[in-house]
Order: sequence, then C-alpha cells, then structure tokens
Amino acid sequence: MDDIGDLPRFELTRLDAPGAADDGADVVAGLGAPRKSLPCRYFYDARGSELFERICATPEYYPTRTERAILEACAGDIAEATGAAELVELGSGSARKTRLLLEAYSARAPEVHFAPIDVSGDMLVESARELIAHYDDLTIRGIAGTYEDALAALHPAPDDRRMFLFLGSTIGNFTDDERGAFLARIRAAMAPGDFFLLGFDRVKDAGILHAAYNDAEGATAAFNRNILAHLNARFHGDFRPGRFRHVALWNGYESRIEIYLESDRAQAARLDDLDLDASFEAGERIHTEISRKFEPDALAAELARLGFARRAEWTDACGWFSLMLFGRGEAA
Ligand code: TRP
Repeated sequence: MDDIGDLPRFELTRLDAPGAADDGADVVAGLGAPRKSLPCRYFYDARGSELFERICATPEYYPTRTERAILEACAGDIAEATGAAELVELGSGSARKTRLLLEAYSARAPEVHFAPIDVSGDMLVESARELIAHYDDLTIRGIAGTYEDALAALHPAPDDRRMFLFLGSTIGNFTDDERGAFLARIRAAMAPGDFFLLGFDRVKDAGILHAAYNDAEGATAAFNRNILAHLNARFHGDFRPGRFRHVALWNGYESRIEIYLESDRAQAARLDDLDLDASFEAGERIHTEISRKFEPDALAAELARLGFARRAEWTDACGWFSLMLFGRGEAA
C-alpha cells in the first residue's frame, strides 16, 4: 500500500510501526482484570467497519446522520467563521463527512490543505485516492500514527491558520482522564489564531439514547459481538460470540451509555497466541465501550479550563448533536 507515487498532491508520513502496539498486551490486561474489559479499538476490523455502517443506517442510531445534516446545513457558516484554514482532522477514517467541509473551504479559497491523521495508513491512502480524484484544488498531507505522535510530528503550519477537527462524537468514547489528556494535546498544538471544531452528542431523552444503542434489527449487538470474532481471528481464539449478550445501558449519573458483552452461561475461552485463558461466570460482563453524552455549557466550561475559548455552536433542529467551535483562550 506504499505505492502512492501515482498520487499527486498527496504525501504520507508513517509513524505507525506495524505490530508495535498490536501485541495484545491490552487484551491480556483487560481480560485479566477483576472487572473485565476489552479495548474498543478491536471493534474495527473489516467486518466491524461493515457492521458500523449498518448501525449508521438503522433508524435508531441518529448521531452520524444528525452530524452530517448539521454539516450539510452549516459547513459554509463554519468556513466563514474561521476563514481560510488548513483542516487537520484527528481520526479521519474515510473522511466522508469531512468532504462537506472541504467543499465549503474550497468555495472560499483557491487552494485547500487537508492534513488527516489516522492510525491506519492504508485508510489514509484509500481516502486520499478518492479525494484527490474528486477535488483538483486539494493538497493532502496525511500522518499515520497515534494522535499523540501525529500531533507532535505535525509539519510547520502553512501560511494560513489551522483548524483541528474531531468529529463523530468520538470524544464521548474517552474516559474523563483520557479526554482531558487528549484535549490538552490539541491545545498544545494550537498556535494563536487556530481553531478547534468538536462534534459531540448531547444529553437527551433516555429512551432515545437507549434505542440508539439497542436497535431493533440487532446491528449494534452484532457489532459488539464481532469484537470477540475479531480477537479469535487475530489471536487464534475460541470465543463463541453467540454466547454473549449485547447489553447497552444509559447511566444518567455518569451521563453515558455503557456497553457490555454479558456471558449467557459459565464458560471459558482461550486466545492461543496470547497464551490467555479467560473464564466467565453466568451473567458476568465484559465492558467494551462507553459513549459519553454532554451538556454543551458544561463541556465548554471544561474546555475553558484547558485553555479553549468557545466561539460558536451549530446544532440540529432537535438539539441532539452539536458542533462547537473553539479558539485559543487562557488556560486556567
Ligand atoms: N463509538 C460510537 C458511539 O459511541 C459508535 C458506536 C455505536 C458503538 N454503537 C456502538 C461502539 C456499540 C460500541 C458498541 O456512538
């Protein structure tokens, strides 16, 4: 996949040492803990990505289509609010929603600079191939690596400002500590005049939230169970995904959806390559994901303490999802 010589206006920096962070130590730690958990990065193998697309197509799962609708309606206003800027996207994936922003910026300037950051170098090449073919005023400088490494390795800013993008409500998948550390890194990477656009899901009626993670068709359940199938394939294992129930609960006190796989009987599973044996009691849960929902004012206050200043917010007609724009403020 390194054959990108045929791609004009694209350059890729690879900070991803293949295999290094992929030795399964995080799986051993998660399944060995008294309260078992699995790292959410194992959701996304090829099948997992397919199943996530299915989740996004269910009537219950509103976040993706709501964020897209906001971008469709407001991308021009966002570009207007920041002026010309290089778009630095964290966790760009297929960059499908980002296109709406690239188009809005392209309408206002002769040239658009896009710097996608993603752990998957292959994904960056694939999406760059499509974007470059589509937009002839676009220059892409991708960085494959963790957010931390990529932000530290960011090229010198071009003449224009930068806007850092973190969309998809992925901010909700961090613990409080992880979120603080992540935001501090972005703040440290921002020069005066730079912007940060954050897409987050808002606290709303518990029934709507619950349904979004318990769709009738079972796409979310299949996605959740697929993490076990992925572990089987990756580490030669014998998990039986069908013997785990999908559980997703709204914890109003913590303001988050909590997602688990619940063992439907006493059972054991082995991952050969990790020499790992795990046993489960009937009803025992493996924690797989949290999805935190935010009150906009409280989130803005949290960011203010980290040195961001709220500049604008765009939302949908129901107020379910928000895109919030920040500049640099003073750190408290
Ligand atoms: N992480 C995303 C979210 O919080 C995607 C997601 C949707 C998800 N359904 C899920 C992650 C079920 C794990 C399990 O909305």
